[in-house]
Order: sequence, then C-alpha cells, then structure tokens
Amino acid sequence: MNIVIFGAPGSGKGTQSEKLIERYGLYHISTGEVLRDHIARKTPIGQIAKTYINQGQLIPDSLMIRILEEIIENEPKAQKGVILDGFPRTIAQAEALDRFMAKHGREVKHVIGLEVPEDELIDRMIKRGQQTGRADDNPETIKNRLKVYHESTTPLREFYKNAGKYRKINGSGSVNDIFEEIAKAIDGEKA
Ligand code: AP5
Ligand code: MG
Repeated sequence: MNIVIFGAPGSGKGTQSEKLIERYGLYHISTGEVLRDHIARKTPIGQIAKTYINQGQLIPDSLMIRILEEIIENEPKAQKGVILDGFPRTIAQAEALDRFMAKHGREVKHVIGLEVPEDELIDRMIKRGQQTGRADDNPETIKNRLKVYHESTTPLREFYKNAGKYRKINGSGSVNDIFEEIAKAIDGEKA
C-alpha cells in the first residue's frame, strides 16, 4: 500500500505520518526532511535546496522527482509500501509519480487530504518556529509557502479527486482523533 499525505504547510502531514508508520508499517518519506538533511550535511543538493526552502519556493520538479525515485528504488524498507509526505506538490510531480509507480507495478492507493483553516496553519508554524528555530517558519516565508501551496499544489486535489483517490480529512482537533479518521478512511477502503 502506498499513501500520499497531502495538505498545506503546517497541516499535520509529518505528525500523522508518524502514527501511520506505526499502525501500517509503511516507510515514511518526507521530501522536506530529505532536503533539510541534505542542507545539514552540506551536500550539493543541499546547497541548491537551501535557497528555495528559505524563500518558501518549491525546488525544481526534475530534481525533486529524481531524488524521490532514487529513494524508492534504493531503500529496501520502501519496497512494502510508502507514505509520501510533501510529494507530489505539482501536477508534473503527480504525473511523474503515476508513471514511476506503474513502471514498478505499484500504485498510490489513497491520498489523505488534511484540511485546516489558514489562521490555524499560521499559528502552528509560528509556534514551531519559536520552539525549534526551523528556518522557514518565519512570517515572511510562511506567507510565501502558503501562496505557493495555493498556486501550485491545490490543483492536485482535483487531480486526485478525478482519480477517485482523494480522502478529505478535517485536520483540526486532537492528533489522535484526526488519526482515527484517517485510519477509518484507509480501512474502509480495504474492507
Ligand atoms: P515540508 O517540510 O514538506 O514543509 P511543509 O509542507 O511546509 O509542511 P510542514 O512540514 O511545515 O507541516 P506538516 O504538514 O508536516 O505539519 P506538521 O506535522 O509538521 O517542505 C519544506 C520545503 O521543502 C518546501 O517549502 C519546499 O521548499 C521544499 N520541498 C519539499 N517537498 C517538495 C516537493 N515535493 N517539491 C518541491 N519542493 C519541495 O505540523 C505542523 C505543526 O503543527 C507542528 O508543530 C505540530 O506539532 C503541530 N500540529 C500537528 N498536528 C496538530 C494538531 N492536530 N493540533 C495542533 N497542532 C498540531
Ligand atoms: Mg512536515
């Protein structure tokens, strides 16, 4: 089973992924985490990614797609199933993912769409910025991240609705309640 966890910056993709890996034994790939790790290790990819991330912009599709495909192909733990957190973020990425999955005889089973009001997203990210110092959690970059989300990423909702894969989840409330709603959406489909 391969799942995409979809939602705006701060919607809880990472938080819910942690719980999903526990219950379903899937391998978690957060493209944001992958890029932040490159930045921390000062790799060539990290050098490129840093500029985009700090401005709240997406890194180029071709580079992002290549990074993701390499992980899925080379990581043994990814063979059983993956949770994609933060990918795809553009129609080009979604189309590349469909082609890649088909080539490997796999498919994206569910797209879990966490929907959270914008003021709550901003509050969460500001708070996290204060607590952890994450570089892109500052008011200016948050504004850009949300703009990019609305312009480039929200069209994916229609893309996955048309494919019959989009599962809308209310992403406000307690972490556990949200998780149970997600699990119901996943298990309901299996039955
Ligand atoms: P990425 O790391 O994916 O960041 P993001 O999408 O902006 O989302 P976040 O990680 O901020 O939020 P989240 O949805 O994971 O929520 P979380 O669980 O942390 O991407 C960063 C950057 O990398 C991008 O801007 C781009 O530059 C680049 N990038 C990444 N992927 C790319 C791609 N595919 N293509 C091109 N570029 C790419 O929760 C947020 C906060 O809220 C936390 O503090 C959490 O504790 C709290 N929280 C969670 N749930 C709740 C709840 N129910 N109630 C209250 N608080 C909650
Ligand atoms: Mg995240």
